[in-house]
Amino acid sequence: MCGIVAYIGNKEAYPILINGLKRLEYRGYDSSGIAIMQGNKISLYKSRGKVSDLEAYCADKNLSSTMGIAHTRWATHGEPNDQNAHPHLSEDSKLALIHNGIIENYLILKQELMNRGYVFESETDTEVLVHLIRDIYEKEKVELAEAVRLALTNVIGTYAIAILSVDNPDELIIAKKGSPLLIGIGENEYFVGSDGAPIVSHTKKVVYLEDGEVAVLNAKKALTIKNIKNEKKRPYIQELEMNLEELEKGKFEHYMLKEIFEQPKAIRDSMRGRLNVKKDVVSLGGIIEYEEKMLNARRFIIVACGTSWHAGLVGEHLFESLVRIPVEVEYASEFRYRNPIIYEDDVVIAISQSGETADTIAAVELAKEKGATVIGICNVVGSTIARLTHAGSYTHAGPEIGVASTKAFTAQVTVLVLMALSLARKKGQIALSTYHQLINDLESIPSKIEKILKQNEHIKEIARYFVGKTNAIYLGRGVNFPMALEGALKLKEISYIHAEGYPAAEMKHGPIALIDEEMPVIVLATEQETYDKVVSNIQEVIARKGKIISIVTESDTIVKNMSNFYIEIPQTAELLTPLVASVPLQLLAYHVALLSGCDVDKPRNLAKSVSVE
Ligand code: M6R
Repeated sequence: MCGIVAYIGNKEAYPILINGLKRLEYRGYDSSGIAIMQGNKISLYKSRGKVSDLEAYCADKNLSSTMGIAHTRWATHGEPNDQNAHPHLSEDSKLALIHNGIIENYLILKQELMNRGYVFESETDTEVLVHLIRDIYEKEKVELAEAVRLALTNVIGTYAIAILSVDNPDELIIAKKGSPLLIGIGENEYFVGSDGAPIVSHTKKVVYLEDGEVAVLNAKKALTIKNIKNEKKRPYIQELEMNLEELEKGKFEHYMLKEIFEQPKAIRDSMRGRLNVKKDVVSLGGIIEYEEKMLNARRFIIVACGTSWHAGLVGEHLFESLVRIPVEVEYASEFRYRNPIIYEDDVVIAISQSGETADTIAAVELAKEKGATVIGICNVVGSTIARLTHAGSYTHAGPEIGVASTKAFTAQVTVLVLMALSLARKKGQIALSTYHQLINDLESIPSKIEKILKQNEHIKEIARYFVGKTNAIYLGRGVNFPMALEGALKLKEISYIHAEGYPAAEMKHGPIALIDEEMPVIVLATEQETYDKVVSNIQEVIARKGKIISIVTESDTIVKNMSNFYIEIPQTAELLTPLVASVPLQLLAYHVALLSGCDVDKPRNLAKSVSVE
């Protein structure tokens, strides 16, 4: 969603800001803007569309400045246009502000400000902030940082903001609540980012601003931070865990393809130091202190959204089969609003690639309030969910830039497998032979994926059949049902083909009505307990002239003969099948989208991290 980058120091700000915005493009946005301090005035440039449009617009301008703020906006309040793009200016043009998040009480604040004569130029919730801060600054005759703090005490909602002020030309003020904000610390300079991507090429020394904090950045002074109660806070400097190369596409045409191909490495990184087959050990350091609570849990409640929710459904199979503790998997957005029953001996597991998904954050807060133990599975180090939860395990998949989640998903499932195996062994629930088979199989998953990736061209050929199609059905049973959901989500989000995932046996309770000679039916028909049942479901599709595209185990003979197209995956323990079966589904969606002329990495309307409700 929206992205923030800001700079104050002794270098030219514009190149830092515009390149920072390019690094934030992956988050999803529809307009962008920059404000720079030039002498005693703020110069403002905004443009609907891509950052390249803004860059073209700025090309012939004098942009010399050593201080500025920049923003990519993903529209919430008001359509994507130049007026609604950030930064927003105060009426006297002395203050410029950018904002991520949502001001929930903006209508009340706006009305109050309008009653006092303020005129609004945009339809955004953000504009209230700039007028409110300026109003308090003028009336209360306090320092700007104090005016910001006072203004924010009136605000309900979430925000990460950065402010330029003509009256304070040596200071950049930033503040946050609910939306992430990082300060990069250089030599007599500061960088600000809504994540590490615009900062990592400049410095790895970062401070994560905490909720309710307001920071003053002055290039000639040490960083000062105060909380909303006006108490001074000591900045805690950390090392940014991100590498520049991980943010580049390298030899790949798209981030999504790169990330699909990175899965063997991502899974090895997820397992590193946690799985040692020779020593017969599975251990997740991050949850050791909470393992007793997990072993004695009344039940596990997994909360997540989108693809992470699908990983949660796989987790349900893993935990129930191996640990024998009941599991509920909840959409975080539903869980938070239905007054759920949460016991103190429940363990809630929040899964999130970004660690910034608003609904998942709210579900974590609710579970904590009710006294449950909350464990996080996140990819982004230092993210909000990673910091809010009692304990957790990072997935270590490396930055995921493509909007469609791929390597983060398989890394989430890897962590869930490790967690389930470690708990099952400690609980004494798992037969030693099963445990050994699973840890051996898990170790071999990366090389199995490498084998699947060699079928890229074959999958591309199959993708041609989908071009021009408007619908698709994905079927799977057991642990392959979440894969049917995930395959359908991948296809619809990047190719815009309507796709549904169903448990194979459910088809005859409704969706079978849709099947005719035009309907592609993607069936996960790998070696599993219900294989014969899936074969019958395939017969039902064929009888209605549907076209079968199957994912089968290499040794399969029956389903291959029934399929119009098939993709082979290596034999794998049934519970681990999602780790391999998801890969051809990702490649299929990728090629269909590409052949259909879609923007694979930045699909329409989508954002990488959904930081609003
Ligand atoms: O960052 P999170 O894992 O919390 O994100 C959850 C979903 O927004 C995300 O998985 C989304 O569904 C992806 N676009 C799927 O590819």
